[in-house]
Amino acid sequence: LAVKPLAGKRVVITAGPTREPLDPVRFVSNRSSGKMGYALAATAAELGAAVTLVSGPTALPDPVAVDTVRVETAEEMLDAVQERAADADLFVGCAAVSDHKPAERLDRKRKGKGGFALELTPNPDILAAVAALDNGPVTLGFAAETHDALAHGREKRAAKGADWLAVNDVTEADAGFEADTNRVTLLGPDGEETLPFGTKHEVARALLARIAPRLA
Ligand code: PMT
Repeated sequence: LAVKPLAGKRVVITAGPTREPLDPVRFVSNRSSGKMGYALAATAAELGAAVTLVSGPTALPDPVAVDTVRVETAEEMLDAVQERAADADLFVGCAAVSDHKPAERLDRKRKGKGGFALELTPNPDILAAVAALDNGPVTLGFAAETHDALAHGREKRAAKGADWLAVNDVTEADAGFEADTNRVTLLGPDGEETLPFGTKHEVARALLARIAPRLA
């Protein structure tokens, strides 16, 4: 590529799940593989950006030419993002951040075979925190939805203050969590556009092609 549309830009991307421990051996988490966020990180680097990927636990290797920071919990992800987001031109929140964490984290393995109730408390919202920064980066969030995807996506974009939001319906077998392909509708300042179905790398290229010209 002769022209690199993200040359000189700094991009911070989150990917993967977070793990919220109950005790030293058990955690609350979700099905995110990291594939979509890693595809965005690799693509942004190919397009010339200096990329930092803040990743929850995944089985994927660090993308080439990307500064990769591995974290476990939502709080650790927030700290790693806050250290880097203020200087970024673009923040992409692709991680499936656990909305809740166990209210109590035991130092030793829980014993006993009986049932028990698990109390969860809210985690911080990383995307909303970055979107609220004065002079912060342009923000692209994702919305993982199981029903009424567009309506919920529009509400999420407004509630979190994101500039752009990519909505994916995670009930489809060939989209969302774990799949190699995705189908997203991009909500943004210019309106809404359903992008062509494709591999997560193709979807990453389509997303960044629309957002790159809008960075200051
Ligand atoms: O990793 P893969 O297997 O490739 O799957 C890709 C994906 C389905 C995880 C990805 O495409 C996706 O949809 N990521 C967002 C998942 C998610 O947590 O969606 P949400 O609707 O719960 O959150 C909305 C937005 O807020 C997201 O940008 C999320 O990163 C952010 N968020 C959510 C909660 C929280 N406490 N902090 C956040 O920043």
